[in-house]
Amino acid sequence: MRYADRMSQLGTETAFEVLAKARALEAKGRTVVHLEIGEPDFDTPAPIRAAAIRAIEEGFTHYGPSAGLPEVREAIAQYIAKDRGLAVAPDQVVVTPGGKPVLTFAVLACVNPGDEVIVPNPGFPIYESAVRFAGGTPVSLALREDRAFRFGAADIEALLTPRTRMLILNSPHNPTGSMLEPKDLDEIAALVREREIFVLSDEIYSKIVYEGKHESIATRPGMAERTIILDGFSKTYAMTGWRLGYGIMNPTLAKHVARLATNVYSCATSFVQRAAPGALHGPQDEVRAMVAEFRRRRDAIVEGLNAIPGIRCAKPSGAFYVFPNVSGLGMKSAQIEAALLEEGGVAALSGTAFGSNGEGYVRFSYANSIENIREGLRRFEAFAQTHANVTR
Ligand SMILES: Cc1ncc(COP(=O)(O)O)c(C=O)c1O
Repeated sequence: MRYADRMSQLGTETAFEVLAKARALEAKGRTVVHLEIGEPDFDTPAPIRAAAIRAIEEGFTHYGPSAGLPEVREAIAQYIAKDRGLAVAPDQVVVTPGGKPVLTFAVLACVNPGDEVIVPNPGFPIYESAVRFAGGTPVSLALREDRAFRFGAADIEALLTPRTRMLILNSPHNPTGSMLEPKDLDEIAALVREREIFVLSDEIYSKIVYEGKHESIATRPGMAERTIILDGFSKTYAMTGWRLGYGIMNPTLAKHVARLATNVYSCATSFVQRAAPGALHGPQDEVRAMVAEFRRRRDAIVEGLNAIPGIRCAKPSGAFYVFPNVSGLGMKSAQIEAALLEEGGVAALSGTAFGSNGEGYVRFSYANSIENIREGLRRFEAFAQTHANVTR
């Protein structure tokens, strides 16, 4: 059978593939320390679970509007107004099954074949995948270790062409944990607001911050109409399997995105949506406790990695990933990913899963218990000792 040519343009997220390989090894009796998958290991807070169960009992088991239930759009608009300091009307909110559809739909709605989209490299692999699938050209914005994996307006300016249609920002950043600073946002906003460029601001890790405060570029003058904020419940409330996210965008784009939703999945699950207002506006103690625990783990994994000869690890400001430099092991990152799992029993991702600039790095997710992190570090150290050809 022949399949459509466009499928060759669609990328993937290798975290799911490494997870499947790790599970296969576990089925054969091996133990694996899971540092590959990007999801909190905590349970969804009880009041959120109760709200969804109540919604099922109340009959929220039918189709709803494609852009989301009106009361849920309203609650999200109020939350964004309060949290980001950004006036948002409910018709600017689209509720989606996870944050991912916001990304793919925004690209499908804004990017024509041949248009260029500036994407962080390393960066979340679905950005490049969505752009290519839409017929666009991803243009790499390099994030470098010697600049704390940050960049400024001048780096973006150097990449602009008449075909540039969109800029994708992600702060806090997957896979490096870096964050843009307020003045970076000022300068980037000043650069793009004079041009016909959308900014997709992926703020899915906005509440998982250890240093500084998250701000949205949408708050800068002239930016609200051209910015699409992607956020959701997966990471902040440990709700990855619920599939609940949202986009904030201008009302015209919101209509386009809702029409894409009508075509693809009709609406986000109604009773799942009903858990959103309480999650956003109720007590945030469990979120704070989760972030405090992530901070403890971050400190442990950064310290542990830096103690291993040949490994160097920057301290991330947000999200729950570290992106250590492993070039001292003298192996390609993809080889390390494979051998570390096979020989070392540690599941991690090659830096190249996040783009070509990820060569020389691996990504560990520290969304795992401190005991498992310590065991992962022990195993990685033994692996590094076997393979290192450089000593510091
Ligand atoms: C940077 C980034 N954006 C978006 C997402 C999508 O999350 P979800 O679709 O679960 O809301 C993820 C998940 O890993 C992510 O890391």
